[in-house]
Amino acid sequence: ADTLGAAAAGQGRYFGAAVAANHLGEAQYAATLNREFNSVTPENEMKWDAVEPNRGSFSFSRADQIVNHARGQGMKVRGHTLVWHSQLPGWVSGLAASDLRSAMNNHITQVMTHYKGNIDSWDVVNEAFQDGGSGARRSSPFQDKLGNGFIEEAFRTARATDPAAKLCYNDYNTDGVNAKSTAVYNMVKDFKARGVPIDCVGFQSHFNPNSPVPSDYRANLQRFADLGVDVQITELDIEGSGQAQATNYGNVVRACLAVSRCTGLTVWGIPDKYSWRASGTPLLFDDNYNKKPAYTAALSAL
Ligand code: XIL
Repeated sequence: ADTLGAAAAGQGRYFGAAVAANHLGEAQYAATLNREFNSVTPENEMKWDAVEPNRGSFSFSRADQIVNHARGQGMKVRGHTLVWHSQLPGWVSGLAASDLRSAMNNHITQVMTHYKGNIDSWDVVNEAFQDGGSGARRSSPFQDKLGNGFIEEAFRTARATDPAAKLCYNDYNTDGVNAKSTAVYNMVKDFKARGVPIDCVGFQSHFNPNSPVPSDYRANLQRFADLGVDVQITELDIEGSGQAQATNYGNVVRACLAVSRCTGLTVWGIPDKYSWRASGTPLLFDDNYNKKPAYTAALSAL
């Protein structure tokens, strides 16, 4: 196959991209998306501040644009994200515990209901663990006011709302075997043991010289898969250029393919110029939508 999506499909996987609604009108952007990818993740449009800026008042139009585009092209959609400490409107952080609990559950219910039938996998909870060696939960309005149980509660509410969607926990710096990934691993193991609904774990995979592709990436994906969940590479970007970057991209694709429960990969943007990494060239297409060596390496690894 000569596109990322078709080649991934040939391996029983998807190859996705994060998409921003405001670029869909750019002809080359849409053409590249439509040609190469068979899954999309809205980059910002489904976050809490975008869809429920004021309590109980939902605005889905930007996210709908992406979902309609993707579904019209037969692509899968990853829902990103329901419960996260960032891009969270001020009104949420201001609530006391009992109100916060009902606001969280209402948010999950309303958003998932709106997109029911159109979302393959949801990042139900994003980035709930601290960096470093503590293995502790990150401080957030949810953690601080609702305690450890907020993650379980979010997943139970999500399952009750859309039983057909795959429910994922998603995080960064969990790509290799380390204290943070082990803390997530222990949570997933506990969820599986107690029947808390969880189907998948997302590994963001934002790589740079300070956080390179780990040598135990595949082993880490495999240990999660062995718990009985799917794994997905959800926000891939790799700082660098040329052959070094290409080698890293090839290694990431091969790590996923080596794990039968690794169901797909998503790159966090299409051309370098729209990367959230303001400087740098971490993606597969240059600013003119030319395929980079990283693209060729990713495709030939599939
Ligand atoms: C980023 C977006 O790419 C930016 O446009 C936005 O300003 C901030 O968020 N982890 C995540 C993503 O889960 O939602 C983040 O996306 C990148 C880090």
